[in-house]
Amino acid sequence: MSDLLWQKSGIRIDPRIMRFLAGDDVVLDREFFLFDIEASKVHVEGLARIGIVNAAESADLIRELELLGADFRSGSFMLDERYEDGHSAIESRLIERLGDAGRKIHSGRSRNDQVLVASRLWLKSKLLELSLVCAAVANVCIHRAEHDVLPMPGYTHLQRAVVSSTAMWFAGFAEAFVDNAWRARQTLDLVDANPLGTAAGYGVNLALDREYTTRKLGFARMQISPIYTQLSRGKFEMAALDALGAALLDLRRLAWDLSLFTTSEFGFVKLPPQFTTGSSIMPNKRNPDVIELMRASYASVAAARTEIEQLLSLPTGYQRDLQVSKGAIFHGFHRGLDALALLPDLLVQFEWNAERMRAGIDATMYATDAAIEAAVAGVPFRDAYRAAAESGDEAGQGRTPESSLAARTSPGSGSDLRLDELRRRLTELT
Ligand code: ARG
Repeated sequence: MSDLLWQKSGIRIDPRIMRFLAGDDVVLDREFFLFDIEASKVHVEGLARIGIVNAAESADLIRELELLGADFRSGSFMLDERYEDGHSAIESRLIERLGDAGRKIHSGRSRNDQVLVASRLWLKSKLLELSLVCAAVANVCIHRAEHDVLPMPGYTHLQRAVVSSTAMWFAGFAEAFVDNAWRARQTLDLVDANPLGTAAGYGVNLALDREYTTRKLGFARMQISPIYTQLSRGKFEMAALDALGAALLDLRRLAWDLSLFTTSEFGFVKLPPQFTTGSSIMPNKRNPDVIELMRASYASVAAARTEIEQLLSLPTGYQRDLQVSKGAIFHGFHRGLDALALLPDLLVQFEWNAERMRAGIDATMYATDAAIEAAVAGVPFRDAYRAAAESGDEAGQGRTPESSLAARTSPGSGSDLRLDELRRRLTELT
């Protein structure tokens, strides 16, 4: 490991303790490194604005930071165990290349606000990705709701209940994912606050131009209180994981439906072949493994959120415990976004089996229609309900799945899906 930035003479560093302190931080910091470099460039500009570095030093620092970014992208610079973390790597490299100018970059900042700003920028980019993928899912669902209008059984308690349709199924998930996209945007707005310039968590005796760095880094607002910036670490990460979890919760139920509907017992759905795998022993099998793994990804997000929640039992101020939150958001977002990224293709490609679904609709499933029709004709609903219950299969006489769906005029149901309204909400978001 290169010299530690904070090392003072006379203290022996035990390598085992060093390894424990660093953990996998340097590996995780690879994920945040380019954001750290971006924020470092803007920090240098801020220092130049208040005369801590001169114009030539500022230009040198920015050029070297850009080179470091390019070397990192091309793989010619490796962020590895030579460094304690990404922040130390940036400073060491600048000192190595520029000497005194490099030694000035840490004026007025601490690794505590440095890690906050890098992880905040990272979170913003992931929440944007989340809102875009949710919008893409909603779009596919709206499109298929318009084109696939096939009757299917509607279940409650997994028991046959009333006639439903593939359009209603898709419209349901369309609205869910419009809301999920909206929630991701709202969460993005919440975390869109600049912590850079709060230093160790108590400000500094420098007139840092925080308004400038806020604008330049593309934040909507400055996070004002240095104490609050530290309080928000972990809290904002949890909010982001909540937004991700909301989408994955819907994905989990969607995946459940599809895995159930592909069984021979149901036979409603045929999955695209690339979403299934073979068995190593049973030659007859095609298994819905991909869908099952998509369903399982909620567990990773919930685990990440719980890990951060457990860390946050802390007094005010920076505590090293907070470092662990980076691994949690990193793993949670990777698993979650990877699963969601597959969803639009799955939804475009899977096929319904119209005959099997129609065969799953029996005459008793018109009982609710019959009772309500009688109620419209003036029979008190409770009496109409009893009569329909006793009539058994007769409830289905003269009815078809299509006629049942056409008569379903309550807003949002069979004949009034309001897909245009969903599309309008989606365009408002994007
Ligand atoms: N790796 C650390 C983290 O993620 C960086 C901040 C270290 N600050 C400190 N005072 N030791 O939290």
